[in-house]
Amino acid sequence: MWNRYHAAMEADRKWWERGVVYQIYPRSFSDSTGNGIGDLEGIRQKLPYLSDVLGIDAIWLSPFYPSPQKDFGYDVSDYVDVDPEYGTLEDFDRLVADFHAVGIRVIVDFVPNHSSDQHPWFIESASSRANEKRDWYVWADGKPDGAEPNNWLSLFGGKAWEWHGPTGQYYLHTFLKEQPDLNWRNSELEAAMFDVLRFWMDRGVDGFRIDVAHYVVKDPELRDNPLADPDAPSDHFKPMGEFETLNHIYSKAHPDIHPLYQRLRAVVDEYDDRYTIGEAHITDLEEWASYFGANLDELHQPFHFALLSKATDRESVRAVVAGQEAILPDGAWPNYVIGNHDEPRVAKRYGEDSIRRLAVLLLTLRGTVTMYYGDELGMLEGVELGLDPWGVNLEGVSRDGCRTPMQWTPDGGFSTSAETWLPMGPDLKNRNVETELADPGSVLNLYRRLLAVRKSSEALTVGDYHEVESANDDVLMYERVAGEERVIVGVSFADSSVAVAVTGEVLVSTDLRDGHADGSWTIEPHGAVVIRG
Ligand code: NOJ
Repeated sequence: MWNRYHAAMEADRKWWERGVVYQIYPRSFSDSTGNGIGDLEGIRQKLPYLSDVLGIDAIWLSPFYPSPQKDFGYDVSDYVDVDPEYGTLEDFDRLVADFHAVGIRVIVDFVPNHSSDQHPWFIESASSRANEKRDWYVWADGKPDGAEPNNWLSLFGGKAWEWHGPTGQYYLHTFLKEQPDLNWRNSELEAAMFDVLRFWMDRGVDGFRIDVAHYVVKDPELRDNPLADPDAPSDHFKPMGEFETLNHIYSKAHPDIHPLYQRLRAVVDEYDDRYTIGEAHITDLEEWASYFGANLDELHQPFHFALLSKATDRESVRAVVAGQEAILPDGAWPNYVIGNHDEPRVAKRYGEDSIRRLAVLLLTLRGTVTMYYGDELGMLEGVELGLDPWGVNLEGVSRDGCRTPMQWTPDGGFSTSAETWLPMGPDLKNRNVETELADPGSVLNLYRRLLAVRKSSEALTVGDYHEVESANDDVLMYERVAGEERVIVGVSFADSSVAVAVTGEVLVSTDLRDGHADGSWTIEPHGAVVIRG
């Protein structure tokens, strides 16, 4: 029950617990130079949109570091600089200063599992077996017959080992062969990577999104992975091809990962009020929760990804939320996400009908929200162009379609160049900031309303979550409560209108109707409503 202690806890909630994080894929947000590729200065120029039009609390920038762009920045060739395509360190400093001036935090990507094969560390490491950085990467002898050291597979297709003729050994790559895995068992490598964190925190960065956080520590004996149990739940919801034939117990998430994250957390805690969120596609909830640390001394949060694939119907969503709420360690805070740069756009996964109800769901559940750029416009999936290397290797997984440029105006407004790195999305004319701002019933105006309502409500930002009995099997009902404030949410998965029994002022309705519910409110098909109880 609510009491003074509880009130104090809520008042104390951290910025990342209260806040809404907006993910920006720098290549696709705003191009200030006219070369068809987004950049940091472009992002800085869009600050008024992020702060005044949307009112988000933090941005997360996907990688903007120097990179050969084999995996569009997730192949880093210098962890402490900016790729000239995206600008300079001075541009980055200006961006941070301007965002901080209006109270928006800046989170950057940290890619610890692998670097680019063009990183000077790898070039040195590959130069000779005697090189002092040899052990900074994972090298191993082949089998006596010359075959790979073990049966590990790359997530992006094929074997996880690449033969290096000049030094007569294989190196490990969990992703592309141009993305060699770093060896976190080497203490010098660890120290160098921790200095990378300090470098960005010294520049004012407020937090890190940690790429494939559960992959970084492997079995020291490099044992073969066993075959997968075909009936076991997969951590992936895309077709993964051959990768799915193995149970990857030895090539990721060795128990030594936990002391590593304790040490990493200690580095982050050298600075005030910083935040870490790890990318962790883990279906087993107990294992997922272990990344908070036994004493909440590891990552502040592992990303909870279930709504990327399970927001299909009332029962699945109910189970996702109940599952996260039940497993959370004491004192930990939940989080949700419905889109990112690795998944097809919401409309592609769930249908256009779902865009609005999922906006309501995301912004009214208990937990940190991470939004993906363009989802606030209801941007649709773009065409597959064969740029994403994963999509080239494996059918049905291309990420080109969710990375099309941000749609600012009916003509694009992303770049002055007609040649953008990916073409603009298919529904540019109708779904863009300018057009949607002028349309009171647009998805953008729904998001704006939700963001504003959330910000003004203690119940929605930090309140408790309780399921509420729902008379209709297709409507998920829950309440958020803080002190005297109670907000009731109804999210409908029905394709016809449904009346729900509620009383109170309508704060947000998916059709942007205002009103007062007097014992009953009719939710539009596929709609949702938020009511002050
Ligand atoms: C996960 C990232 O989200 C994805 O975009 C990237 O391709 C892989 N990790 C490899 O870094």
